[in-house]
Amino acid sequence: MSIRTIPVLPVPVQRTDAWHAGPLLTALALAGFVAYALWAALQNAHYFAPPYLSPFYSPCLAANCALASMPLVGAGWTLSPAFLVLWIPGGFRATCYYYRKAYYRSLFRAPAACAVPDAAGTYSGESRFPWVLQNLHRYFFYLTLPVLAFLWWDALSAFRFSDGWGVGLGTLVLCANAALLTLYTFGCNSCRHACGGRLDSFRGKPARLRAWRFVTRLNEKHREFAWASLASVVVADLYVRLVSMGVVVDPRLI
Ligand code: FES
Repeated sequence: MSIRTIPVLPVPVQRTDAWHAGPLLTALALAGFVAYALWAALQNAHYFAPPYLSPFYSPCLAANCALASMPLVGAGWTLSPAFLVLWIPGGFRATCYYYRKAYYRSLFRAPAACAVPDAAGTYSGESRFPWVLQNLHRYFFYLTLPVLAFLWWDALSAFRFSDGWGVGLGTLVLCANAALLTLYTFGCNSCRHACGGRLDSFRGKPARLRAWRFVTRLNEKHREFAWASLASVVVADLYVRLVSMGVVVDPRLI
């Protein structure tokens, strides 16, 4: 029998605990993040408060950016510059193995929880469009690496103020965001495969073994880093936005 035609037999839910809570909270958190990210990208304003650049707009690839990190796209681009880059981290997260489990459960109820039947009557796996596109995850991983490098550049640039080097609260916010995104990115299953895949043995490959062990430790906390980095991106954008709007005064710590 093909995986495309496996019927899911209707089974009554026998759980009496609050199994709805987890999927509901997950759905609310994911929907909230997507809504905020779209809103922030559409604003096309208040994403740069010198020396801080919002992670939603980094790297800023349009010539008309408030801070053009790399102006690859000319003045013909009239939409928000966030849309030039957001598809990379967005695609990376959307195809992430952890997030797939999270939204398959919370949004599609496939299944909603352990010992709870699927909402759909059949199971087709990830063998058909659009779910077959989940296989692009490894390419999104490689595309994310240069974006991450730019976020670290932004974090380092956040130490440089108009009157010289220093540390503001925004500096710490951008550094924490870059660090959490690094921990999330390098705990990726595709990164783990890049370090230890296609090998029958690590014999004679100590560097790959060390890298694989390090990535495996991050991978064990992938869920935690996924949520922490999701929150930190929102906090970083919001902080830059509020400073840019004059709602918050960035305290200079050093
Ligand atoms: S598995 Fe989560 S980012 Fe790759």
